[in-house]
Amino acid sequence: MRLQKYLAHAGIASRRKAEELIEKGRVRVNGRVVRALGTSVAGDDSVEVGGRSVSLPPQHRYVVLHKPLKVMTTMRDPEGRRTVADLVPRDLGRIVPVGRLDYDTSGVMLMTDDGELAHVLTHPRFGVEKTYRAVVRGKLGPDDVKKFLAGVRLEEGSARPAKVRVVRTGSRASEIDITIHEGRNRQVRRMFEATEHPVSSLVRLRFGPLSLGSLAPGHWREATDKEVASLRALASAAQRPHADEMRR
Ligand code: URA
Repeated sequence: MRLQKYLAHAGIASRRKAEELIEKGRVRVNGRVVRALGTSVAGDDSVEVGGRSVSLPPQHRYVVLHKPLKVMTTMRDPEGRRTVADLVPRDLGRIVPVGRLDYDTSGVMLMTDDGELAHVLTHPRFGVEKTYRAVVRGKLGPDDVKKFLAGVRLEEGSARPAKVRVVRTGSRASEIDITIHEGRNRQVRRMFEATEHPVSSLVRLRFGPLSLGSLAPGHWREATDKEVASLRALASAAQRPHADEMRR
């Protein structure tokens, strides 16, 4: 890997700033100052910036899966139903799903072996933004939309305000995009039920920076570098003190 890319991956500076540091002679590789921008470094080289040793973060896997209907969001199912583990090759390592989609919900799901990132992204104190496309019974009117904006009342307390966008509406059914931050059990279904528009189909279109796009049901892809950087940025924002208060 080129030295400036290595420094950027290690979180020292942007690639451009890293180039400046190299040109100024602030960077040593295996004890020697290196000023050539194209210098290649490998994981076992020792790299220092301003006398401080620098290392790459551990390599993790980030997989974007389109979970189909009738698949459990678990690695094993005692009742023998299909699980997300059946959809990804074993050689991807010990990746596990981040959060949960119901058996009867399909859509985008992150799987990773980065336990720390998974923990932060699923912590109830910090809700990643998730968008679902719901087909619901009946015509969703402006009063319903207001209820979602105010926070629909659920059995255990009001849900946080949700954004809704009416995609299509008719007298018998409406198609709605709903964006929520929380991850309560069967939350979207229960929110629509509370407004007397039960859900007949639910697909998650977006999980934070990850979009379903044209990924077919049951298929997966590696997250792009840009998506991984966005996930990390979300997680580090969540870990800053008072992050949850600032979001309210
Ligand atoms: N809300 C639900 O009701 N189900 C899901 O699977 C996800 C969110």
